[in-house]
Amino acid sequence: MKTLLRTVSAFVILTMAGSAFAQIPKPEASDPEAFTGRSEPKSGTGKEWMVAAANPLAVQAGADILAAGGSALDAAIAVNLVLNLVEPQSSGIGGGAFIVHWDAKASSLRTYDGREEAPKAAAENRFLTKDGKPMGRMQAIVGGKSVGVPGLVRVMELAHKNHGKLPWARLFQPAIALAENGFAISPRLNALLAGDRNLAMIEPARSFYYDAGGQAKAAGVILKNPAFAATLREIAAKGADAFYTGAIAADIVQTVESAPQNPGDMTLDDLKAYKAVERPPVCGGYRTYKVCGMGPPSSGGIGVIQSLAILEPHNLRALGPKSPVSYHLMAEAGRLSFADRAVYMADPDSVPVPTEALIAPDYLKARAALVKEDQRLPVAEAGKVPAKHAFVTADSPELPSTTHFSIVDRDGNAVAMTSTIESGFGSRLMTKGGFILNNQLTDFSYEDVAEKRTVANRVAGEKRPRSSMTPTIVFNKDGKLEMVLGSPGGPAIVGFVVKTLVAMIDWDMSPANAAASPFVLGMGNNVILEEGLEPVKTDLEKLGHTVRVNNSASGIHAIRVTKDGLVGGADPRREGVVIGK
Ligand code: DON
Repeated sequence: MKTLLRTVSAFVILTMAGSAFAQIPKPEASDPEAFTGRSEPKSGTGKEWMVAAANPLAVQAGADILAAGGSALDAAIAVNLVLNLVEPQSSGIGGGAFIVHWDAKASSLRTYDGREEAPKAAAENRFLTKDGKPMGRMQAIVGGKSVGVPGLVRVMELAHKNHGKLPWARLFQPAIALAENGFAISPRLNALLAGDRNLAMIEPARSFYYDAGGQAKAAGVILKNPAFAATLREIAAKGADAFYTGAIAADIVQTVESAPQNPGDMTLDDLKAYKAVERPPVCGGYRTYKVCGMGPPSSGGIGVIQSLAILEPHNLRALGPKSPVSYHLMAEAGRLSFADRAVYMADPDSVPVPTEALIAPDYLKARAALVKEDQRLPVAEAGKVPAKHAFVTADSPELPSTTHFSIVDRDGNAVAMTSTIESGFGSRLMTKGGFILNNQLTDFSYEDVAEKRTVANRVAGEKRPRSSMTPTIVFNKDGKLEMVLGSPGGPAIVGFVVKTLVAMIDWDMSPANAAASPFVLGMGNNVILEEGLEPVKTDLEKLGHTVRVNNSASGIHAIRVTKDGLVGGADPRREGVVIGK
């Protein structure tokens, strides 16, 4: 089945010094990569190239690569390796990623799937208790069973072969230097370490990130990671094979097997067999723009295309960012696309996902017609599309972690890359090689059967769990690159990306202000409004919405190509910056 289906100027640096990060609330224990405060909107401009990402050291590494003549893809690799070190809660070589790449000269958009894969031995009851009930969230996440075969190194290698300019090993230098010389623990990393009970209990992470008394190492403390430097040197010198075979692979297997909780079943063969996959992009229209992203196993690209198509008939420009109707409409679009996601989306190599039917213009028109400006849809159900599988609704929890970065190089090539180890600090297992392993397999549905039908996103060996990651590239009516963006946020990602696009396209906001603008999320019967949107809460409730006000650490990093050059924005809810030249 699997093979059969696989066919298809100055630098402008905005700093966060003295920002709201100085006063960081303690994260909730149940919210693994929690909201830790926000700063003012952060922007940057450039004429030649630009990097926007979640940490200043990573952005600087990307900028150095671009300044040295590297491509957007080269810079993306350098950025992600540094993020692994300085933002270890979010992404790294122990995890996976999706890359959306625009090649300006060839006018070609390509998307790469480096999603983690379940070990061959994984069975559908992996996250069920002995009496067949779904495990508790942290019960499933912590330990070896949640660890998928990491995809990041392979997908970086595949994309580098196609789009790299500088030698592979050169891209590892910034992260190796920082790992050897040390970096200052950021306030956000400190807050997240302090709030995580599980990481503090498992070696070697405990000794690495906490002091002898179990306190998180303080912000500003210089942390060196020589083990990670040695791992990177190996991969830099010998290529991705050094990760998927040999000592690093053996270390991963051993870490997973000997986990103090939920020892896992990943084998050396699982690692050796892992392949990154190029997949067809998914694209849709919004106003005069073409919006493209990642298809399944991500639900994100389809979710954004569907949500925008549902919003299209409404005059959001006239309604504006203060109108409750704007938020009602975005919530309804979210609810409808979320309903389709829960039913239809999974690994297309295991399940015949009806991707084309879900973004077909007539289907989208019918979905849009369900939404009214003055009424709430009583129930947001999945639509009916021709399908070769008896699909059924089932959901899986996705927890806040993950990182997104956007890059444009001097040739006009662009990378939108979202990279993840799933929840904050992933499985909490750190290898001897100095990196943390993902818990991506808990992105599968825990239940394997619902209403007597097999769940599309249930666990199976050699299958990839559904994702919500939404790296996105937008083109103007002349087919020219105009926007590069994405965000972490688990199932909230689609809502974060949609509101950012609406803010840029309909409300003429800069990328920084669009990233900073408040979000509304519609999922199932619930609507979540970001703090600050309280003025529209009562209006939404009058329409029948059940509304909760909440904060969330989105991490939107966006670049827009304008007639005056590149303009970028970094999400004030994280520690990122923009550097442009
Ligand atoms: O692939 C996914 O959709 C999730 N594992 C991503 C998790 C995430 O974005 C958490 N974000 N803050």
